[in-house]
Amino acid sequence: MIRRAVKDDIRSVYELEKRCFKDPYPEVVLLMLYQLYPELFFVAENGIEKNIVGYVSGMIRMDGFGHIASICVDEKYRRRGIGRRLMETIESAMRTIFKVCNFRLEVRVSNEPAIKLYESLGYRIISRLKGYYLDGEDGYLMTKTIC
Ligand SMILES: CC(C)(COP(=O)(O)OP(=O)(O)OC[C@H]1O[C@@H](n2cnc3c(N)ncnc32)[C@H](O)[C@@H]1OP(=O)(O)O)[C@@H](O)C(=O)NCCC(=O)NCCS
Repeated sequence: MIRRAVKDDIRSVYELEKRCFKDPYPEVVLLMLYQLYPELFFVAENGIEKNIVGYVSGMIRMDGFGHIASICVDEKYRRRGIGRRLMETIESAMRTIFKVCNFRLEVRVSNEPAIKLYESLGYRIISRLKGYYLDGEDGYLMTKTIC
């Protein structure tokens, strides 16, 4: 089930974040993202224990783009459509609440699963961001326009 996050979820989201990324956002950054745009912070729970197995968060930029700040799904729960549903949920909230027409995100050039997910949702690579990540890896800027 996908639902809006509440403040008490942030600790579990941070534990998930650490399992998903080698350069995780600090808990305080996740809290800040939640506090800035609580209506754009969603979690996926598993059916039985109601553990958080995925999350997505985003913000609205000054230029009007909806920005996907972070998404991850627990390794054990991947390839079940959770990532896609999280993306569709946040895009829908950006569209209906903030009237967003354009979406953007950054992704590591090596992150094939994520790039494939975004392409399947209509995102296209716009530019390569040299040394975008802390370890020096390049990123891709990907965007999607819906209106
Ligand atoms: C990227 C991520 C969120 C995808 O989550 P997920 O729940 O596994 O994705 P879904 O099951 O919804 O997959 C949707 C589509 O994405 C593509 N995809 C997802 N994982 C893929 C993989 N490992 N290889 C190829 N394509 C993949 C497929 O097109 C898939 O559709 P299909 O299963 O019908 O073929 C997940 O792999 C993850 O958390 N990765 C680590 C964190 C991360 O990299 N986040 C993105 C940072 S920019």
